[in-house]
Amino acid sequence: MSAPERPAGDGPPALDLAADAEALARVVTVDDLEALGRARLDPMVAAYYAGGAGDLVTLRDNRAAWARVRLAPRVLAGVGRVDTATTVLGAPVAMPALVAPTAFHRLAHPDGERAMARAAGAAGTVMVLSSLATVPMEEVVAAARGPVWFQLYVYRDRGLTRDLVARAEAAGCGALVLTVDSPRLGRRDDDARHGFHLPEGVQAANVLAAGHGAVGQVPGGSGLAAYFERLIDPDLRWDDLAWLAGVTRLPLLVKGVVRPDDATRAVEHGARAVVVSNHGGRQLDGAPATADALPRVVEAVAGRCEVLVDGGVRRGVDVLRALALGARAVLVGRAPLWGLAAAGEAGAARALELLRDELALAMALCGVGSAAAVGGDALWPACDRNRAE
Ligand SMILES: Cc1cc2nc3c(=O)[nH]c(=O)nc-3n(C[C@H](O)[C@H](O)[C@H](O)COP(=O)(O)O)c2cc1C
Repeated sequence: MSAPERPAGDGPPALDLAADAEALARVVTVDDLEALGRARLDPMVAAYYAGGAGDLVTLRDNRAAWARVRLAPRVLAGVGRVDTATTVLGAPVAMPALVAPTAFHRLAHPDGERAMARAAGAAGTVMVLSSLATVPMEEVVAAARGPVWFQLYVYRDRGLTRDLVARAEAAGCGALVLTVDSPRLGRRDDDARHGFHLPEGVQAANVLAAGHGAVGQVPGGSGLAAYFERLIDPDLRWDDLAWLAGVTRLPLLVKGVVRPDDATRAVEHGARAVVVSNHGGRQLDGAPATADALPRVVEAVAGRCEVLVDGGVRRGVDVLRALALGARAVLVGRAPLWGLAAAGEAGAARALELLRDELALAMALCGVGSAAAVGGDALWPACDRNRAE
């Protein structure tokens, strides 16, 4: 589908709800939403959302790897009703797709993270709120209709980090998601080319009081990379996970693991779940696609914690593939973000609705009745094992 021309001038065009509704009605896929969202965004912001590290090898491989996973449709399986609901860390969700933490939602839409939280709630799923949100966490939780979990970047200033954790607990966040793949920011060439920075009026709202709200311009570079260099702790170790577990009563998820041995260590250090993630191809270019890493991690943790996965999920059938490979659920980053850019809350909700509808269809066509019960049997090679039965 073709997207409307982006009007001349800076920033998103003026909001027009009727036009939004009409454009959304014509959206058939998440990729359609991306076209619509991109067209509304400043090129600097579109490049930041879409971009990845280095030569984009990992970014592209994330999507390609899901496409390589073949499913084994079972016939005459009585799929008149399929149930996409499941639980993640005990939290009931209407579908096994959570909203991944992504920074700076007010670059996409003035309602920012509030709109995303409402959309996640409407879809019956969890929103993971980024440390680098542009709306304070207390306001996001207040606006939310469903569970909000807090994603943590550990600042060099441990007092500030502790304060973020305490605020997340007090605000009512249901879990803490520690991102471990970002000791420094990956080199994202397009961000350097566009001189990525936060425009006036948009700030990292959770750390305003500490004086760390601004992400300024850096000549020839990314303001966000400079922000990380200056403020985020590049020296985190396993001990720090123990420290974190000691300062919070929230369940801890460790996000950004691809190695089986790291996943095992995360479990040994008290993680309730690991998120197999390469940060959407934005950190180490050359890291494996998450669909390739997932089965090894699942095998290594051997049921001792839940395994979530993200990266390149654009289709409901990708969600089914992830479940078949052993994930409890996926997280989606760019998909709802493009929706938010396209039409605010309604756009983000549309992205999640598309994924759920596609998942339900894929489940029916695969002969799978319940998302909570999908197993390796749904994978094409696995059905060989059943030949003798
Ligand atoms: C624009 C953007 C901002 C992101 N910001 C964060 C962040 O603040 N914290 C974090 O842990 N991950 C962040 N991520 C990574 C996502 O949580 C997630 O791992 C990734 O987007 C998944 O890939 P997908 O976009 O292909 O679904 C960001 C990703 C994007 C695209």
